[in-house]
Amino acid sequence: MSQIKFIDFQILGDDRGSLVAIEQGKLIPFEIKRIYYLYHTSEGVSRGFHAHRDLKQVAICVSGKCRMVLDNGTVREDVWLDCPTKGLLIESMVWREMHDFSPDCVLLVIASQPYDESDYIRDYREFLTIQKVESVQ
Ligand code: TYD
Repeated sequence: MSQIKFIDFQILGDDRGSLVAIEQGKLIPFEIKRIYYLYHTSEGVSRGFHAHRDLKQVAICVSGKCRMVLDNGTVREDVWLDCPTKGLLIESMVWREMHDFSPDCVLLVIASQPYDESDYIRDYREFLTIQKVESVQ
């Protein structure tokens, strides 16, 4: 089964333009503890290359586009984020990489926890080892 799960946000648009509102308790499947965004990403730069032990995130490309790779240790998939009304749900224990940022890309991320470096797994082999241990438990 694909790991690519999008949340569709309603467009509250009128003749002045478009608006998306995201509220705690609606559509986002966790309590929102943090929001951050990546922008002005230098040409050719790729980011991410980590998984999180517990953290869940929803990534929304509110401007431009980038390509997200999700890897659960068994299946590696990639998907373009290029739509401000679609949020990609990233579960815990998923390796993620972000590539091919357009110069105007603004990638907004909604997160279930405050920033915590100890939640990161930055070594791919360690990620695979932890995945294996968890899958036999
Ligand atoms: P990092 O998670 O390494 O970026 P990415 O994985 O998207 O390439 O974060 C880059 C730097 O920003 C790092 O020094 C940690 C810091 N940071 C925070 O202080 N708070 C945050 O919420 C995030 C996401 C990063």
